[in-house]
Amino acid sequence: MSDPVVMMKQEVGKAAAARVKSDSIVGLGTGSTTAYAIQYIGERLQSGDLKNIIGVTTSFQAEVLARKYNIPLSTLDVVDRIDIAIDGADEVDPQKNLIKGGGAAHTQEKIVDSLAEQFIVVVDGGKLVDKLGSTFLLPVEVIPKAVVPVMRKLEQLGGKPDLRMGVKKAGPVVTDQGNLVVDVKFDSIDDPATLEKTINNIPGVLENGLFVGVTDVVLVGEIIDNKPVVR
Ligand code: 5RP
Repeated sequence: MSDPVVMMKQEVGKAAAARVKSDSIVGLGTGSTTAYAIQYIGERLQSGDLKNIIGVTTSFQAEVLARKYNIPLSTLDVVDRIDIAIDGADEVDPQKNLIKGGGAAHTQEKIVDSLAEQFIVVVDGGKLVDKLGSTFLLPVEVIPKAVVPVMRKLEQLGGKPDLRMGVKKAGPVVTDQGNLVVDVKFDSIDDPATLEKTINNIPGVLENGLFVGVTDVVLVGEIIDNKPVVR
């Protein structure tokens, strides 16, 4: 029997891919859920159900996947718009605000997702929270030379910062931009919009994982009667 979380991710990825129309420029997000959307967009192109798509990726991971599924790619230097973007999230609150960056890709994700005419978030039901920060740490991308002063500032804001380490803690996680990620525990994120701006105002911070007022649609995968459904 398949893993229910995998089944939910597949179903929600497929539902998002089904919303992509021919002749559009598509922002391709990062993560294990969006990976299924990229796969299904590729399959729709292959079958002829979808035509003339250009993808704009949000990470090296998304780029590798898009190439694997033969999705033609371009960049923000070249395209003049993003019609639709599909991306995952680590937490979603009732106002459709997000925490992203579990895959350390939130900087490029925020650029592409916030440019999209329609931004669709794909998650499994476990990502829905009443308040951001309740289950997931807030990722902050920091220029390497600024890590120590930025961590001090984050503590002054009431956070508990921790430098993200890679597999087996052999070294820090390095982003696609060559920076580091500090994950911050806040006891309560009461005003995500203000916190997003305040953190981004610390010298040395490139971007944080709060996405406020960017999301248009949230597709949620759930298992009901042993079957994956999307709502
Ligand atoms: C990467 C992200 C991802 O979209 C987020 O971590 C969700 O990933 P997944 O679908 O694998 O749970 O923000 O930076």
